[in-house]
Parts: sequence; C-alpha cells; structure tokens
Amino acid sequence: MVRRTISTSVVATFAALTAGAVLLAAAPSQTPLRELADAHEIAVGSAVGTGPLDNDAFYRSTLGREFSSVTAENAMKWKFVQPEPGPYDWSAADDLVSFAEQHDQRVYGHTLVWHQGSPQWLVDAVEAGEYTDEELRELLRTHITEQVRHFGTKVWAWDVVNEVFEDDGSLRPSIWLDALGPDYITDSFRWAHQANPEAKLFINDYNIEWIGAKSDALYDLVADLKSQGVPIHGVGFQTHRTNRELPADYQENLQRFADLDLDVAVTEMDVRIELPADDADLETQAEVYADAVQACLAVSRCVSYSVWGFSDKYSWIPSTFPGYGAGHLYDENDATKPAYHAVSDALS
Ligand code: XIL
Repeated sequence: MVRRTISTSVVATFAALTAGAVLLAAAPSQTPLRELADAHEIAVGSAVGTGPLDNDAFYRSTLGREFSSVTAENAMKWKFVQPEPGPYDWSAADDLVSFAEQHDQRVYGHTLVWHQGSPQWLVDAVEAGEYTDEELRELLRTHITEQVRHFGTKVWAWDVVNEVFEDDGSLRPSIWLDALGPDYITDSFRWAHQANPEAKLFINDYNIEWIGAKSDALYDLVADLKSQGVPIHGVGFQTHRTNRELPADYQENLQRFADLDLDVAVTEMDVRIELPADDADLETQAEVYADAVQACLAVSRCVSYSVWGFSDKYSWIPSTFPGYGAGHLYDENDATKPAYHAVSDALS
C-alpha cells in the first residue's frame, strides 16, 4: 500500500513535470507580434527567403505565428520570375502566396521595377542596342501587367518602383530612365493600376528616413504624382539602419508624406551591428527597432511595419555590408533577441 502510494505520487509528479516541460516548449509565453499589431490595425510583416521557407520548420512556424504580412525577399523580382526570355516561372512566389493564404497573412508585392532586379538577358539586350525605346517601354508595360495580373487580389500592395533616387535626390540612372525618361515612373503606376485597380501602389526607397535631399526629392515627386491624379497610394520607408539611433525626425518625416493623403509603411527594417555584437549593441539595436514601431503607431496613415527577415540565420547583411551582421529579431540559434522583445513591448 505504502509502496503503491509512493509510486503513484512519483508517477504523478513525473507527469506534472513532463506536462510543464511540454507546456514550456510548446507554448511561447509571448503574445505573437501579429496579435499585438492587430490591436493597432497595422500589419507586422517580414521578408521571406525561399530557402528557409522550403527547408526550415522553425522558420516556417515562427513566420506563421508572429507575422501578419509577408514580402518575398527575392522571389517576385523580375530576374527571378523571368530568368530567361519567355514564360514566367512563378513557382517560388506562388509557394509564398499559398503559405500566406494558409496563415491568413497579407502579401506585400516586391517589386515591379528595380534597377538591380532586371534579368541579365534584358540588361545584355539593352546594352547591345537590341530594343528601340518604344519596344523597351512595351516590354516594361507587359511585365508589370503580367505580374500584377498573375497575383491579382492575393497581393494587397505593390512596390511599383523601388530605389529610383540617388542619395543626392537626383533620379537614379537605369535602363528605364535612360530610355524612357522620368515618365517611366508615372507609366509604371498607371499600368499597375490598370492591371489591378484594388492594389495599393507604393514607391519604396532607403535613406529616406530623415528629412534631407533624398526624401525631399521623393516628397516633391509624390506630391506631383498625386496632383496629376496618378494612382499612387503609399510610400515605403525601407529603414535599413545601423545600431546608432533612428533619425530624430523619422516620425515627422513619415507624417509629412501621410499629410499628402498617402499611406506610409516601414517596409524593410533591420538594424545591422558591427561584429562582434555585445550586449550593449543588442540593447541599442532593440531601441532603434522599437522607436520605429512607435513612430509608425503615432502616424495614423502608417499601415504596416515589416522587417527585412526576422532571423540572423538567414540574413542579407553580412554579404552586403562586410563586417556587419546580427541585424534581426532572432539570433542564429532561433532565440529571441532584445530587439524582438522591444518590438513586442512597443506594440503592447
Ligand atoms: C536584397 C536581398 O535581401 C538579397 O538576398 C539580394 O541578394 C539582393 O536584394 N532593398 C531592397 C531589397 O529593396 O530588395 C533588397 O533585398 C535589400 C535592399
């Protein structure tokens, strides 16, 4: 009898411990970011890489649980959807769209026109003088139309044109500017709108977080487009930062664009650190992330807050900015960083 009592209680204790452990492992104590963002009626998003989406179970479950919007890191760029002249290959982009459908996420389309996104065959043909300007214009029109139509209402917003300015505020030379002049921007918005009148159409750029030559030039352009009745609905602030502070006038800058009757969005946030990152770096990084969330929440036309990848494990930073890294919300071992908790607190 005694023995039986002991063994029963041992079993009971073991069962309780096991249940506790399972509970700890299975149920994150944190409220997911997307649930917190819902309360503010904004989306919280992440760029998504095709590789980890296909191969990493932790990545998939985190993406589904934490985020209410996804942006293809590369899979919707022209050179990926049409690597050779001829039929499009939508497979990787379609996989992301169906993941988003299964997880009740919005899809932010990135991007229709980008100087770095053109397929090599197109760049080579332009360099070889194979197209007249009119043919090139027709090629761009066809591309925008086919891509926007393919995704239809599954994509809620498009970065129609990406990074069209240089840092000094002049328009960036590109095959489009060279052949078609600045009107390629206006035309791109009109074509995208014709292909899906419901999509929100954005212009997206970096180094426009503060008020200065580049953001002023962008401001003048979008004000002009609005006054001409061009279908433009928003401005995307990429917000690739270092772990110094966010520019002090970030919110004021978002607000002046919102005051043009445009939506604004934080589209590609990351905060790179010069390696090795110490605890103080991670704390400053967290503040920069949180400050951007707060600025977005303070501007009623700020409709979404997206990060450019959520994990240090799959980051574009080290190869693009040698010596830098650790720019995201989760570390290389899938643990949440101070930045994750700061974003969570800012949304709470
Ligand atoms: C980057 C991707 O993260 C990389 O994987 C790719 O090699 C190059 O492009 N601004 C943008 C994004 O608008 O499309 C860029 O994405 C990062 C900077």
